[in-house]
Amino acid sequence: MENIIQFNAPATSLIGGGAINQLPKLIKEFGIKTVLIVTDSYFMKSGLIDGISTSLSSAGISSSVFFDVSPDPSLENVYHGLEKFISSKAELLVAVGGGSPIDAAKAISILVNNPPPLNQYMGYHKIKNAGIPVIAVPTTSGTGSEATKVAVITDVQMGVKMMIFDKNLMPAAAIVDYHLAKSMPRDLTAYVGVDTLTHGIEAFISKKSNPLSDPIALSCINLVGKNLASAWQFPDENEAREGMSIAAYQGGLAFTNSSVCLVHGMSRPLGAIFHLAHGFSNAMLLPTIVSFSLMGALEKYALISRTLGFSKLSDSDESAGTKLVNGLTELNKSLNIPSLGTSGKLDKRKFEMVLEKMAIDALSSGSPQNNPIIPTVDEIVNLYQKAW
Ligand SMILES: NC(=O)c1ccc[n+]([C@@H]2O[C@H](COP(=O)([O-])OP(=O)(O)OC[C@H]3O[C@@H](n4cnc5c(N)ncnc54)[C@H](O)[C@@H]3O)[C@@H](O)[C@H]2O)c1
Ligand SMILES: [Fe+2]
Repeated sequence: MENIIQFNAPATSLIGGGAINQLPKLIKEFGIKTVLIVTDSYFMKSGLIDGISTSLSSAGISSSVFFDVSPDPSLENVYHGLEKFISSKAELLVAVGGGSPIDAAKAISILVNNPPPLNQYMGYHKIKNAGIPVIAVPTTSGTGSEATKVAVITDVQMGVKMMIFDKNLMPAAAIVDYHLAKSMPRDLTAYVGVDTLTHGIEAFISKKSNPLSDPIALSCINLVGKNLASAWQFPDENEAREGMSIAAYQGGLAFTNSSVCLVHGMSRPLGAIFHLAHGFSNAMLLPTIVSFSLMGALEKYALISRTLGFSKLSDSDESAGTKLVNGLTELNKSLNIPSLGTSGKLDKRKFEMVLEKMAIDALSSGSPQNNPIIPTVDEIVNLYQKAW
């Protein structure tokens, strides 16, 4: 059989400064009058949610709020949100926040029409029925969850970050308003920015890359190269924030229609065990893993290097590849992102004790199998040690 590309995207995306003001009109287009807003405690306190609720109410839409979503949302968060959804009699979910509230809303959405427990849907294409519509409003310019068919939910008891991949997780609509990202502290801008870059890179070098995802991935990489440093240095600069918000959306769209690879595969176990922010653990692994994978897709890595401005057209692919690894290392330094060992967030003894479990969990997630070079458990252990 020929290779068939499946491409999914939100049916409607409103992208640009002030797009959040279109939310009431968008909800009305669904013919819906009662919604549940899913967010976290930061946005409850910041006043953003009050503003949104007021604008919905003025448009005749009633809303309740579920704000008990923690960073790296847990199964418990999802089940509590589901109870709130049922008691609120809502017909649509509006997710406001970073990847955590958006992923929690996606998981709640599918549990309305598919039986629990959520764990049974871990992996690929296991969700039978469409959920209720989700409108995703990202605030981090990072995960791209507003344009992905992925939700990452942590099973705290098992110490596993579950990756669930299914077209039924694609939000019905996305509202990408870069002004919402301006309040991010600098370190968060750095972590989510490198997460976005990792999405672009992994989508492009994946064994599942294809003619539809490739140009989107390259545009994501290009936008990060042009805008991340400015967004980090000048948080209020419109152009940089807008560039990063589009990069994040494109990164999500690219990887969800191609795949992520070894960086994400190895990052999830680190995040689950040491409670590291998703982008932070990705960033610390990225240069080491690019170096390991280089010879599996040298031409593509060389193109990434040139797109980021790390090397010139006249550089050979080998030289561009080396410059990419060096450039990514320097990028981390310039954004104050440390290595695993110098981060102060990991106990060395515990790290060594869980190395093999992390390597096995990484492989069993399926992501490393899309990498240009597929590592063994021992090689993954070695890569964690190198990134230390
Ligand atoms: N579904 C996907 O496709 C996908 C892709 C990559 C990552 N993820 C998942 O997304 C989660 C991480 O999401 P994230 O990195 O966007 O962060 P997050 O949603 O976990 O938020 C992290 C912290 O930043 C705060 N925050 C968010 N936006 C802010 C803003 N504008 N101003 C100030 N503070 C703000 C939040 O309140 C929170 O305290 C992880 O669980 C990760 O596994 C999902
Ligand atoms: Fe990611």
